[in-house]
Amino acid sequence: MAVEEKPGVKSSSSIVPCFLFVELVIMAGTVLLAYYFEYTDTFPVHIQGFFCYDKTFSKPYPGPDDTSKIPPVLIYSLVTAIPTLTILVGELCAFFTKAEGTQEKTIVTADCCYFNPLLRRIIRFLGVYAFGLFTTTIFANAGQVVTGNQTPHFLSACRPNYTALGCQSTMQYITERRACTGNPLIVMSARKSFPSKDAALSVYSAVYTVMYVTLVFKTKGTRLTKPTISLTLLCLAMLVGVVRVAEYRNHWADVLAGFFTGGAIAVFLVTCVINNFQQLQPSLPPPRPQRPESVLGMPMVTLPCVESPLEKLSGPQVRGGGGCEARLCSQKRGRDTHPLSLT
Ligand SMILES: *[C@@H]1O[C@H](CO)[C@@H](O)[C@H](O)[C@H]1NC(C)=O
Repeated sequence: MAVEEKPGVKSSSSIVPCFLFVELVIMAGTVLLAYYFEYTDTFPVHIQGFFCYDKTFSKPYPGPDDTSKIPPVLIYSLVTAIPTLTILVGELCAFFTKAEGTQEKTIVTADCCYFNPLLRRIIRFLGVYAFGLFTTTIFANAGQVVTGNQTPHFLSACRPNYTALGCQSTMQYITERRACTGNPLIVMSARKSFPSKDAALSVYSAVYTVMYVTLVFKTKGTRLTKPTISLTLLCLAMLVGVVRVAEYRNHWADVLAGFFTGGAIAVFLVTCVINNFQQLQPSLPPPRPQRPESVLGMPMVTLPCVESPLEKLSGPQVRGGGGCEARLCSQKRGRDTHPLSLT
């Protein structure tokens, strides 16, 4: 570590490969766990009973997931392709326009390996994204397996023999484990409903991409580009949830829980793990607004300007260049742009 420090170049001979190794191990573990949840029955689903003739679970069977209007294959492809393309385009643009706040130190490991700053940013954003995607899958699958809540079409898939079970009234609760006469595979998947994995994945992907677009994209001149992209993505994610409910594949509660899971994981990763996609710029003093009285000569409505929690989280160095709340706040104070603003 006794290498001379050049400005803008961080030297490290041993620490980076070590961290990289740890991260690869964690990543591999996550992928493996997601695989076991998804494609094996290592974790058996909790068998819940049901009420005879329960109307909540008596919707018609809509067919396997692949026959849905938004099949899993489509969701998986979009959830992979849209953020990857967005991040690649955003990073390439930021790199070639030398955007402020996106400059990164070049890491030199020994004499051989130079981590290209562009490559480093892309790998970090995509790596954290992929990690979150697998984590969301694990959370959703674990929730489904642990709760064992049934889908709205459960009784149509289960086809219980009410005569043999002795069902007389709708108040009778059936705990018999072999109550179902339907196809065991379909019955098993009809027991996995809470939370909705499709909803969780699409919202995770949308929120991550939206936060990336909002915090990193520079669209000088057009003020509506970022909101358009963001709202379109969020709309698509909502649509996935709506279709899940409309096709009797999930209840509303499942979809909402999925939205919450995916959204929470995305927000956590962006704010706490990659610190708002920001790079610390200690050399630039944070410019603070001086004249909060007016915007474009108009008297300013004194809105209570709430300090952003993101701003506080990322420390004093990035103050003023922090999250979108911070920027909103500073715009309210009457300052449209400053050297670190990413608008
Ligand atoms: C339901 O169970 C009764 C009594 O065991 C049996 O007679 C009848 O055939 C069963 N019905 C079906 C559709 O399996």
